[in-house]
Amino acid sequence: MSLLIIKNIETLVQVETSPRPVVAGEAMRHLPTIKNAFLSIENESILDFGSMDDCPSEVNAEVIDARGKFVFPCWCDSHTHLVFAGSREGEFVDRINGLSYQEIAERGGGILNSAKRLQQTSEEELLEQSSKRLEEIMAFGTGAVEIKSGYGLTVESELKILRVIRKLKETYPIEIKSTFLGAHSIPAEYKQNRKGYLDLITNEMLPRIAQENLADYIDVFCEKVAFSVEETIAIMKAGKEYGLKPKIHTNQFNCMGGIQASVEHGAISVDHLEVLNDEEIECLKKSDTIPTLLPSAPFFINDHYPPARKMIKAGLPVALATDYNPGSTPSGRMPFVLSLACIKMRMTPEEAINAATINGAKAMELEKTHGSIAKGKVANVMITKPIPSLAYLPYAFGSDLIDQVIIRGKKL
Ligand code: NIG
Ligand code: FE
Repeated sequence: MSLLIIKNIETLVQVETSPRPVVAGEAMRHLPTIKNAFLSIENESILDFGSMDDCPSEVNAEVIDARGKFVFPCWCDSHTHLVFAGSREGEFVDRINGLSYQEIAERGGGILNSAKRLQQTSEEELLEQSSKRLEEIMAFGTGAVEIKSGYGLTVESELKILRVIRKLKETYPIEIKSTFLGAHSIPAEYKQNRKGYLDLITNEMLPRIAQENLADYIDVFCEKVAFSVEETIAIMKAGKEYGLKPKIHTNQFNCMGGIQASVEHGAISVDHLEVLNDEEIECLKKSDTIPTLLPSAPFFINDHYPPARKMIKAGLPVALATDYNPGSTPSGRMPFVLSLACIKMRMTPEEAINAATINGAKAMELEKTHGSIAKGKVANVMITKPIPSLAYLPYAFGSDLIDQVIIRGKKL
């Protein structure tokens, strides 16, 4: 048995005595904290926490003194594509010179560009590149992450990505959920035969993925440059036959009915939502689907941001994630996502932290074990450098304020 006690914590953030599954609307403004606190960790789990007045004096415990420092539950990043090959800074320069993200996609760049690169990359090399990214985000404080396929677009390459994700799951202590996103883009050779690609997903990719048990969820990029609502429904249905629940990319550029279709098919989350109308907000209010916002994507491609204030006012539980990918977000830095949420979407620091912890956990169905400081939950915590207040974290957006990260009770 190993016992670790973090003492003299300036503020222990997101503490729960009776764990909540999600935090919605007005309640997102409230973040339960304890000042001058301790936190004890036994093996991989949170054993106890409270005021320093009640701190146990165990002789056999390892002790960390967190004077002046804040302790948070690790970030729950519920939307990434971090298994990709190479980078796309050429398109970054094309956008500076005037092309839009959609124009680049229509010219066969974008996702297809990354797919070509990935198809030519060995599984070993892909694992090496992806491991570095995973280690990087763990150092930023991420303790649970969802990773999608979608840069393979052939049977073998989609399987290659999902096998790399499985390898990451086996190698690292961080909790990983795996999502099959074969419907990320129509490959060039299927441009005139969309049905052929949908059949490939349904009849060849999905059975192999299910056979090797390689995915937890199914995703579709529901958008004018990608898949229609009808195609999205067909793929959600096919995925569900193999036990994969949907998590759907929708409303990045257009309101097409992707939200209504996702909700109807029991989606765990709908992600992006840079455009969102009142009818769609009403639809989300009647569902358990978590609206997940990815503000680094509009930041990087110079687009507008999701209407977070309106969503919270409507009583919705908003989640925040990075979208780490080579095209629209070459960054897995959750603290920067929080700063963007505050600066660009006018979320308060408390709302942003709720969105990036407990609500992110809910968007990966991990709310019972992750996303807060609660007895018995997985001991995923981060200790900041000395900071004057909670708001200082999103405020000082250029500084690296995470001092130490503990995942499954082990210091990184
Ligand atoms: O979530 N929108 C679709 N997929 C990714 C980006 C894909 C790419 O440009 O490589 C996203 O933004
Ligand atoms: Fe994405």
